[in-house]
Amino acid sequence: MTAEKFHLGWFGAFVPHGWNQPFEGTEASHRDWLDGTFHVDLARALDRACFDVLLLEDSSMVSDTYGGTSEATLARGVWAPKGDPLALAPLLTEATEHLGVSVTASTSFYPPWLLARAFSTLDHLSGGRAGWNVVTSSEDRAAQNFGLDGLPQHDERYERAEEFIDLVDRLWSSWEPDALVMDRETGVYVDHEKVHPVHFEGRYHRSRGPLNTLPAPQGRPLVSQAGGSPKGRELAARTADLVMALPKGVPAMKAYRDDIRARAAAFGRNPDDVKVMFIVSPVLGATEAEAAERFERRRQAVRDDPTGQLVGWSGSMEIDFSRFDLDEPLPAAARTNGHQSTLETFRTWAGDRTLRQAVEAYRTEAVELVGTPDSVADQMGAIAQEVGGDGFMVWSQPPTRQYVTEICDGLVPALQRRGLVRTGFSSTQLRDNLLEF
Ligand SMILES: Cc1cc2nc3c(=O)[nH]c(=O)nc-3n(C[C@H](O)[C@H](O)[C@H](O)COP(=O)(O)O)c2cc1C
Repeated sequence: MTAEKFHLGWFGAFVPHGWNQPFEGTEASHRDWLDGTFHVDLARALDRACFDVLLLEDSSMVSDTYGGTSEATLARGVWAPKGDPLALAPLLTEATEHLGVSVTASTSFYPPWLLARAFSTLDHLSGGRAGWNVVTSSEDRAAQNFGLDGLPQHDERYERAEEFIDLVDRLWSSWEPDALVMDRETGVYVDHEKVHPVHFEGRYHRSRGPLNTLPAPQGRPLVSQAGGSPKGRELAARTADLVMALPKGVPAMKAYRDDIRARAAAFGRNPDDVKVMFIVSPVLGATEAEAAERFERRRQAVRDDPTGQLVGWSGSMEIDFSRFDLDEPLPAAARTNGHQSTLETFRTWAGDRTLRQAVEAYRTEAVELVGTPDSVADQMGAIAQEVGGDGFMVWSQPPTRQYVTEICDGLVPALQRRGLVRTGFSSTQLRDNLLEF
């Protein structure tokens, strides 16, 4: 039986890489992240390893939720400092041939017209390899950086996002594909009858249109989405080409993918047009024992510093976790207007555990993968078969050069030997590559 192929993506962030890791000195990582060097090297490695997409997350704030001060956030470099991934993206596509680059941008802060134009331009610059990762954002602190008092309520954010995407789609298609005539004889560059204002009057957004740039090579740059609440899934099923997800364990992964596919079908879409990719952070070793030891070290680091995780969550959920006793369960009253699905997943996961026990046991990945490249490749093949596809997004926090090498030169060749992932590309565009299998 030939193996069913699945896709690989990398979920990254424009942040310092491994500044406090054993193999990456402070000086080197200080010098070569904000000038783009590290991420260009990462993109080249992923391109060589035939990853479909590098997706860059984003946020727009320096959080001071944990303990009411930015001290813990900045001392640990959690969410900040961070560069703007949209400015970085053209460097990455310029340095690569096939890799798609998807950038996170918020429907709560961008004006739709600016966003439509920026991503159309990126699609042109990259020859059809641009993606937009749609987020509604989770933090009042970020909203306040854009002159708002705070974010709209969770579900309303999704309603605004839905309308935002409709408008952006209208702007992307405001030029007919053959509007560019470039006729020397008649002296006509663009046929004005093929360029249409959109006159969009929504509940939340208005725009006259048309866009002032030519139709993007993909028509519509790839759209991805990661919100896991019912509203988030609904938006993803209606509008997204790619969904990133973090359900815990194989049965939940299968249920998540089945749910997105069913919702997509209910919107009249072909479920195969929506790829669901799961976040993983494989721990690799030359032997099983070495991998297990490295995994244990990762666990121990959390045990030694349980607050590290809580500082991150305080930022994205805007709950001050410093108020809670680590040796008591998470109070039922803890609520968020931010990442609701993350809080709910954590609450379900935690059960009766104390906060300390729950943080120690929690994992920010769909499924733990530990072993040699060959055994992890076997595990991924088995999981993909059970879940039904579509692939995995590798996440590493902090990103390190060592980890990139382990994945691209260790794990990927093992997957390729099994026929589980691609060894080349038959198309030059991101969406076509994702739809190939
Ligand atoms: C894997 C994953 C990646 C995400 N990346 C971002 C991000 O880069 N920026 C952001 O503002 N939100 C990010 N989110 C948050 C979601 O897009 C969404 O806004 C959030 O989860 C709240 O929606 P929900 O309650 O539907 O889950 C991410 C969520 C997940 C699960």
